[in-house]
Amino acid sequence: MKKCFLLLVGGLAAAAVLSAQPRLREDNIPEIIRAMSPEEKACLVVGYNNAYAGYDPGLPGTAGLTFPMPEYGIPSIVMMDGPSGVRLESDWHDGTSHFTTCFPTGLLTAASWDRTVAARVGQGIGEEALDMGADVLLGPGMNLLRNPLNGRNFEYFSEDPVLSGRIAAAYINGLQSVGVGTSAKHFAANSQETNRLDGDSRMSTRALRELYTRGFEICLRESEPWTVMASYNLLNGEYTQESYGLLTQILRKDFGYQGLVVTDWTGKRNTPKQLHAGTDLFMGGARNQTDHILVSLGDGTLEMADLDRAAAQVLKLIVKTPAFRGHKASLQPDLEGHAALVRATAAEGMVLLKNQSTLPLSPCRAALFGVHSYDLIPGGNGAAYVSCRGLSQLDDALREAGFGTDADLDRLYAGYAAFADADIALNHKVHVHVGKAQTPELEITRGLIESAEKRSDMAMITLGRTSGEARDRILNRDFLLQENEVLLVENVCEVFHAAGKKVVVVLNICGPVETASWSYLPDAILCAWLPGEEGGHSIVDVLTGAVNPSGRLPMTFPLDYFDIAGAEDFPYNFISGKANESVVHPERRALPLKNLAYTDYTEDIFVGYRHFLTAGREVAYPFGFGLSYTSFAYSDASVRVQGDRVLASVTVTNTGSVAGKEAVGVYVSAPLGSFAEKPERELKDFAKTRLLAPGECETLSFSFPVRDLASFRSDLSRWEVAKGQYRVCFGAEAGRAQTERTLTISRGRNYGAERACEPR
Ligand code: BGC
Repeated sequence: MKKCFLLLVGGLAAAAVLSAQPRLREDNIPEIIRAMSPEEKACLVVGYNNAYAGYDPGLPGTAGLTFPMPEYGIPSIVMMDGPSGVRLESDWHDGTSHFTTCFPTGLLTAASWDRTVAARVGQGIGEEALDMGADVLLGPGMNLLRNPLNGRNFEYFSEDPVLSGRIAAAYINGLQSVGVGTSAKHFAANSQETNRLDGDSRMSTRALRELYTRGFEICLRESEPWTVMASYNLLNGEYTQESYGLLTQILRKDFGYQGLVVTDWTGKRNTPKQLHAGTDLFMGGARNQTDHILVSLGDGTLEMADLDRAAAQVLKLIVKTPAFRGHKASLQPDLEGHAALVRATAAEGMVLLKNQSTLPLSPCRAALFGVHSYDLIPGGNGAAYVSCRGLSQLDDALREAGFGTDADLDRLYAGYAAFADADIALNHKVHVHVGKAQTPELEITRGLIESAEKRSDMAMITLGRTSGEARDRILNRDFLLQENEVLLVENVCEVFHAAGKKVVVVLNICGPVETASWSYLPDAILCAWLPGEEGGHSIVDVLTGAVNPSGRLPMTFPLDYFDIAGAEDFPYNFISGKANESVVHPERRALPLKNLAYTDYTEDIFVGYRHFLTAGREVAYPFGFGLSYTSFAYSDASVRVQGDRVLASVTVTNTGSVAGKEAVGVYVSAPLGSFAEKPERELKDFAKTRLLAPGECETLSFSFPVRDLASFRSDLSRWEVAKGQYRVCFGAEAGRAQTERTLTISRGRNYGAERACEPR
């Protein structure tokens, strides 16, 4: 690394005396590569971050940069985290403060089932990335929600690869439309945070193809992310960053990806092996990686062709960037405009789970319980944490909308929230990486509830959960409600119901919580996820009917954690002492440390609804579930094959009395063909209507390749579409067809794939 710094100084001097080197243009990359020395190429493919003393680390909080090479006209490019907004530190060294917008999290975006929502969120983030001087925004996060306890689920989209891949593509297209790059991350099978640097995800080739790389494959058909980030973990015994099978055979050959592969932020891998596998850019960049490249060129363990390819990819990326265009960051993001965007988009992904003649609400006197009614959680922690200027709180937003809140409860909770914040700050209870620790719920006496009831027309309880990078959620602490939370729900419901008054629960959560034991108590439940900085306003918009809820669950809420397939194959109750650090070092990987050193994906392809529907198991709320204030009827469904695509359509009519939107999934049940097992049903496409007035209808069209009907046969390394009758179901919920048709495939079809990443 020092070498790069010296080279840079030399380069500046050379540039100053009008060096004879060619200067980078879009069309002369091969010429630049030919002109560069091995040292220069090695410096080009290894980036740096603030760990590098003596060189400008970029704005506080920047994730990483590449070295500039002025003699070639190559600027440094800047990478900032995502994916829920631009992550920077707000307090700068010069004493000034700078903020960016906290956008809705990935899970909420996917819950909109609306590509236009994802594109708008992406574009808003892209605009701020440009304003803050980023060339690449490190998102979207798009790992599959294998288990409800993964600490980063809130950044990701879904337990289904089609929903995940299409929403990701829309986000990428929106973000890149402003001329900033994205990074589709983390490729692949990065499904847990515990021991995230060195855990081995072990799975069948079928699961890898049908689920864990599938979302990326679909995303790459519909978008061209400038970069793909290779994950930290191992896949079937090999680090993904070192896997030729994953990065070259699958990503480049099978999926046709032409962009750059960047590493997730570790320097602890075999550098020449990574280059050969298909890694192009090493971030955050470790001091020894440049040296390692040069030594390996010398001893023959690295071929120049691999370094040349990587260097060319870096240049291909650089010529697309704002830095190359000479863009100057304004450092003035449009916080006002984007707050309005956040308010509108967040409301689109909120999911109404229960409504017994309670919502929408008219202004009344509401007693607010739960600390998160006063201290909303806008986003998650870690790389996705965003320092925003202000936060719309639920209590304020209710008052703005004409509701009264209970002054005694307001005082109590405001005091507690301030105390909890001070306690967190004083005792440094930050999340492992960046962000805020979860505020524990306050114990409220029955007497207090009874007195609040007398002054109020209804009650509202907000329950919150946060999580983040480097730590998974814990079954007993995060999935299950805590004793004081259960008591709060029970007591508030008992007291208010005895007086004939309604209770609404708002879930301000980063992922599923247990609901089965208490959901029968309140009259309405709204899942608001981690909604971004305008959370209070967006929640009130939905509660009052200013926005009719149209979000649908992008993952199943199980009745019981142990109902999910592979529940035991996840560190569900593992509390790590030192998070963000390997809990198991590579040399100990051989020890039988199940779920830490390795995780067996025993459920295979039966993740989420694929399992629940196939096994006929009941759930709390199914994939695709969500209520509305209106109702819809389906008619005129059709499906046919045209060339190599399946085309379908259905007409949706608003049969209720208020305007609303309906999300529709197209699910297919396939005949077995040569397979012993297939999921009962799988999502193949989805769409959402525009806002339909009462009586209004819209015909939604769907289209996907016939190839998407296939299952992956590992033994022959190919995709097989079985001939026979396919049941095609229309409706958002995986298990509940609103209408259905049959599709006949008269001749089976096979599609070959590179043999790669097979279990050892
Ligand atoms: C995270 C990535 C992030 C990177 C840079 C890593 O620890 O896994 O998602 O983009 O850091 O901050």
